[in-house]
Amino acid sequence: REVEWTLEMAEKAGYPHFMLKEIYEQPRAVRDAMHGNVDAVRKAAEEIARYEKVFIVAMGTSYHAGLVGKYLFQRLANRVPIVEDASEFRYEFENVIDEDTLVIAITQSGETADTLAAMKLAKRKGAKVLAIVNVVGSMATRIADLTLYTHAGPEIGVAATKTYTTQLAVLTMLAIELARVLGTADDGYLSSLVDGLSRVPELMEEVLKHDASLRELAEGLAGKSDFFYIGRGVSVPTALEGALKLKEISYIHAEGLSAGELKHGPLALLEEGVPVVAIAPSGKTFEKMLGNIEESRARGAFIIGLGDREELGRVSDVLVQMPPMDELLTPIVYAVPLQLLAYHLAVLRGNDPDKPRNLAKSVTVE
Ligand code: G6P
Repeated sequence: REVEWTLEMAEKAGYPHFMLKEIYEQPRAVRDAMHGNVDAVRKAAEEIARYEKVFIVAMGTSYHAGLVGKYLFQRLANRVPIVEDASEFRYEFENVIDEDTLVIAITQSGETADTLAAMKLAKRKGAKVLAIVNVVGSMATRIADLTLYTHAGPEIGVAATKTYTTQLAVLTMLAIELARVLGTADDGYLSSLVDGLSRVPELMEEVLKHDASLRELAEGLAGKSDFFYIGRGVSVPTALEGALKLKEISYIHAEGLSAGELKHGPLALLEEGVPVVAIAPSGKTFEKMLGNIEESRARGAFIIGLGDREELGRVSDVLVQMPPMDELLTPIVYAVPLQLLAYHLAVLRGNDPDKPRNLAKSVTVE
């Protein structure tokens, strides 16, 4: 489905910033991404199934979507794609790309120079290229053999929000479909995931209700100079993306990392009052996360827990209560409170979240 992008659609519709409007548009955008891709995803999954060697290339937030994609493909389809930042891929991977390679490029704009260069390299070496793109008719769609559109509509805010969660929706559908084609997961489980995914827009509506309390939380944190975001498994990219949102628009230094890495360096930076955002949904590593939170707390860190389990509330200074859902669906829904937190911190610090300093919506030069 091609959408005509009009000026009127691009207006702020009563929101103080495009970014906030776009955060709120996510339930609708994710619904459109799902409805618009049922057939296309099936076709793409059949194509992906033919390749053992799969790369995912992207930059910025799209790269984080790629990392989520890796966890989804691994868990559901027993396929381990290599996820590379396109600026590295284009220079370092030339010798390993051939006709037996499939490259999935993820790019909102379809115009990011490094991502386009990676795609062109892949084509030149005879690889198959699949693109996941938001902007209809962009350069990436012309290079790719096959394009899946995210149907998010125009995104004006420089920091990606709805284009990220729609990329995740498409990748989740793709992984489910790939698992079906390859017969790598239980059918009943896959159907329950499809059901869960169809309820994601409602869950996003539910967590958008945390807006006011996240603003309040931000008031207490606006003077902080360092944040840490930790997670495990599929929540590692969520932690990276949470940190990136904060850096981009609030200009507060932030790091996202796997909770297991805490002990290998970052723990030395934790002292009284340093905010640690713990992405801790129910799932196979929940207990481990509790341990990591305890060790951060012991150094005086201020814990902001995101999760659905009561135990998390006991170890957190602030709990952002999330609805229960399959762990594999959490990246989409948990992105929302992290975006809101970054947004409020940016506004409280006097920044324009729509136009962060030094950054461009689309990086078309190297
Ligand atoms: C810029 C934008 C980011 C975006 C990245 C990749 O850095 O500010 O929000 O994630 O480019 O852009 P793309 O259009 O390729 O997804």
